[in-house]
Amino acid sequence: MGHGWFFWFLTSWTALGGIVFVLLLFIPAPYGRYDRKGWGPELRPRTAWLLMEAPASLLMLFYWATSRNPFHPVSLVFIAIWQSHYIYRAFIYPFRLPAGSHAMPLSVVLFGLVFNGVNTLMNGYGIFWVGSIPDTTWFLDWRFLLGLAFFFLGMYVNRRADDLLRTQRTAQPGKYFIPQGGPFRWLSCPNYSGEIFQWCGWAILTWSWPAGTFALWTFVNLGPRIFSHHRWYRATFPGYPKERKALVPYLW
Ligand SMILES: NC(=O)c1ccc[n+]([C@@H]2O[C@H](COP(=O)([O-])OP(=O)(O)OC[C@H]3O[C@@H](n4cnc5c(N)ncnc54)[C@H](OP(=O)(O)O)[C@@H]3O)[C@@H](O)[C@H]2O)c1
Repeated sequence: MGHGWFFWFLTSWTALGGIVFVLLLFIPAPYGRYDRKGWGPELRPRTAWLLMEAPASLLMLFYWATSRNPFHPVSLVFIAIWQSHYIYRAFIYPFRLPAGSHAMPLSVVLFGLVFNGVNTLMNGYGIFWVGSIPDTTWFLDWRFLLGLAFFFLGMYVNRRADDLLRTQRTAQPGKYFIPQGGPFRWLSCPNYSGEIFQWCGWAILTWSWPAGTFALWTFVNLGPRIFSHHRWYRATFPGYPKERKALVPYLW
């Protein structure tokens, strides 16, 4: 890549992911059902999500717009794919949160903000500034096509699960229940599983190390939380469906 500091930055960020993964296995991030005192003042969930996620959309627009050739067709498709997720997560999801969702402590919001800032810097700088955008034959390359399929399948599962949680929670404000229907038939947290799948797709379709590091960090953030949620469901609801798995449908 020709930028020594960036190589070291990516290596360190990847290594840090390993440490955070181990920490999150023992200390679930203190929001939602694990909300507890001692992590700072609490922000309303809508404000928290907007603050955490908006920089990922806006900062990426900056990197794309100031890149060498923003209107190159592959560049345009890459930015459209990124924004198809972040416009939803930053500007639509916060306004569709069900009434009675938990507030979020400031420390979690700051962690989310720093994570999104660094992650977007890494992807924007690595892909749009110093990476070489491939020519349009990339659109027929198996990596682009496979990555695209992963990305949109993951996005579909993630949104479907977000929507099911929202509608079922709206009917039972402030209560926890066993979510029903759609991908919840097979998995405890299809919103998280879909999101992990989605960013693996991004890594494959851009075929870049920064995007691979993002996929890894998505697993770092959400993998331990999948297991925490799965254990919590089993402990909280004695009749929790046995066929519902944590990570891999039918298996695990
Ligand atoms: N890329 C990343 O690193 C990353 C990191 C975090 C989140 N995300 C994404 O952001 C979205 C939200 O994440 P999250 O951690 O807030 O997800 P979550 O724990 O599943 O909660 C989502 C919403 O559904 C409610 N909810 C969840 N399970 C429920 C149940 N069994 N009964 C009743 N209500 C329930 C929650 O209420 P409460 O708030 O009251 O619990 C919250 O309003 C997900 O799509 C996730 O993939 C991505």
